[in-house]
Order: sequence, then structure tokens, then C-alpha cells
Amino acid sequence: MDRSSLENRFTDYARIILENDRDIYVGSACDGIKDVLSSVVTGDLIKSSSFLQGLYEEYYVSSPRSDSLEKERCDFGDTLSPSGAAACLKDVKRTKVFARGLKSAIEKMMKMTDERPIRVLDAGCGPYGLLSMLVAPFFKEGEVEFSLLDIYKVNVECSMRVAEVIGQIAKCREFIKADAVQHRIEGRKPHVIISETMQTRLSVEPQVAITANLGDQLADGGIFLPQSIRIYAEMNDQELGELFILTSAISAEVKDSCGRIVPNLMSRISSVKKKINAGRPVEKGEKVVVKTEVRVFEDHVLKSGESEAVTGSFNTRTLKSESGDITFEFEMGTGKKVSEVFVS
Ligand SMILES: C[S@@+](CC[C@H](N)C(=O)[O-])C[C@H]1O[C@@H](n2cnc3c(N)ncnc32)[C@H](O)[C@@H]1O
Repeated sequence: MDRSSLENRFTDYARIILENDRDIYVGSACDGIKDVLSSVVTGDLIKSSSFLQGLYEEYYVSSPRSDSLEKERCDFGDTLSPSGAAACLKDVKRTKVFARGLKSAIEKMMKMTDERPIRVLDAGCGPYGLLSMLVAPFFKEGEVEFSLLDIYKVNVECSMRVAEVIGQIAKCREFIKADAVQHRIEGRKPHVIISETMQTRLSVEPQVAITANLGDQLADGGIFLPQSIRIYAEMNDQELGELFILTSAISAEVKDSCGRIVPNLMSRISSVKKKINAGRPVEKGEKVVVKTEVRVFEDHVLKSGESEAVTGSFNTRTLKSESGDITFEFEMGTGKKVSEVFVS
């Protein structure tokens, strides 16, 4: 398999993920991309196919297996292992909506400014630089340049290797091993920043803190993706109300004058406690569901339930409440692994 046919194959799959309306084809294209990329990244993922074996011999980059890696720590959230991050590719709707949102945001930015290249920061790029690499083939060299950042060195190295192998390295500005919760962007700021470092209810991973740190480090008029992440409650399929909404505006709420996150402010914002009145008495055990929705960019929305990991629902059981008041209590991405939503 020569390099150009590998590039063509990748681009064909990317085109399906970015443009095909039928999810069944998008799913198959994610499988195809996984075969191509996993062989580049970790030899242990290779199945016994001669096609993949050929790729392995030609392109394998020696890298430690993720299960032997030391876990990288970050304040305000747990980091997903490299193999866990690689598996995100197969979360088909997630991958589709995030990649399409990113492409649309770059296109919008190209209309809003004459500056070229459009600078994109992919914060938490994973081992494939997946979101950037999926959209890169749709832009010419010089139109867009990607900075790929991850807290795991192996992810940064593998992303660079992937970019080389699929012929997109000339569109990559830099590969950065850094904690996105603390990273200061030197020099010219990105026009677009994307980060998918979240689980449903913004639990576990540090999406909230990454948004807070990077949300005010954009070029003028720049776009942070996702544009909003909304956590809300439903009772009997009717919306009860919003529990939290995350946008880049959070930066102004939790940073000091030097542009650093103030831990106390961050912790306070990450502990959500909100009372909503149901408008009628609530019986013990009535089902109330906490949902998550991600607006990646404009109409590219990952709805509740479309990705178990990112927008899965959480069923609660309420206590009796004559007044109809329901209090929701949960913590986001604090690293404390709070997996419950407390309802009283
Ligand atoms: C859910 S995966 C997503 C990977 C890829 N962007 C995608 O969409 O397929 C999240 C990635 O963010 C990285 N990450 C988590 N916390 C981070 C932090 N504080 N700084 C930099 N990267 C981080 C993880 O190592 C992981 O690769």
C-alpha cells in the first residue's frame, strides 16, 4: 500500500463522515478510519489482516501501550487514557457532529476574516488528532493550520505520525504536550479552539476547566467549540429547566487578572446546586431525568442520548415534595468522580 492510496482512502472515509446523510455509511467510514489509524498508532491494535499488517510494517510508530502508561494528572478533571481516547472515534454521532461543527466553524471564520491561514487549536487531540485530521483534507495548504495539543506525550507523538502518514502534516503548525487547563498561548491566538474533553453531565473529564482556561485566548472574533453545553432536567418528557450551561463566557467568571484560573472560583462553579419547581406536588420515586446537549457549532448539535458517553441520560428518583421543589446537586469534572446526581 503506497502512501498516496492510504491518503486517498483516509480522505474518502473523511468525506463520508463529513458529508453523508446516512449514519450507517458514517459508521462504516469510522470503522475504516479506525483500521487505517490504529495500525499507524499502536501495533497491538492490529488485527490479522494482511492490509493492516502491511500498514503496520510500513508505518508503525513505536509507542508504549496505554495500559502501561502512567496516568497524567490535571486539576479539575480526570484524563482519559490514550486507548480510551482512541475508542472515541467509534462514538459515531459524536465524531460526526464534532467534525462537521469544526469544519463549518472554519468555513465561517474564512468568511469573517481575510487572514490566512485560519489557526485552529485542537485541545485534547487524542492519539489520532482525529477531529483536526478529519477536516484537514477539505482545506488547501495555507488556508488552515492546526495546533494539536494533548496532556499525553504519546498522543502528541502519534498525532504527528498520523498527520504525516495521511499527508496532512504541512497543515499542522505545532504539536504540543501540555495541560490545557494551564496552557498559555504565546504569539498569535487561534481563530478556532475545539475541545472534546467531556462526559455526560460534564462529569469526570476537565471540559469545564479547559473551556475556562482557553475560552478567552482566542483571536478577536474567534470561535470556541463547543459553543455551548447544556445540562437540563426533564420530568415525564417535559423540560423542567436548565441546571447548567457552559460557554466560553466562563473564563471571565473564574480567572484572575493574570489570566489564571482561581481554584476556589472554579470549584464553586463546578458544584452545581439548583432548585427547580415542578409546578405541582411531586411523589416519591417519580422519574426525573438529567440530560446533556452539546451545540458544537450553530446547527451541529449532539442531542441528548445520541452518544452514551457524552450526552447519555441520568435517571433519578425523587423524594416526595409537597411544594413541587426539586433540588439537583452534582459536581462537574472535579476529578472526584462524582457519578451521581443527588435529588431531594
Ligand atoms: C475524549 S478524548 C477526545 C479525543 C479526540 N479529540 C476526539 O475527539 O476523538 C479527550 C482527550 O483529551 C485529552 N485531555 C484530557 N484532559 C486534558 C488536559 N487537561 N490537557 C490536555 N489534554 C487533555 C485526553 O488525553 C484525550 O486524549
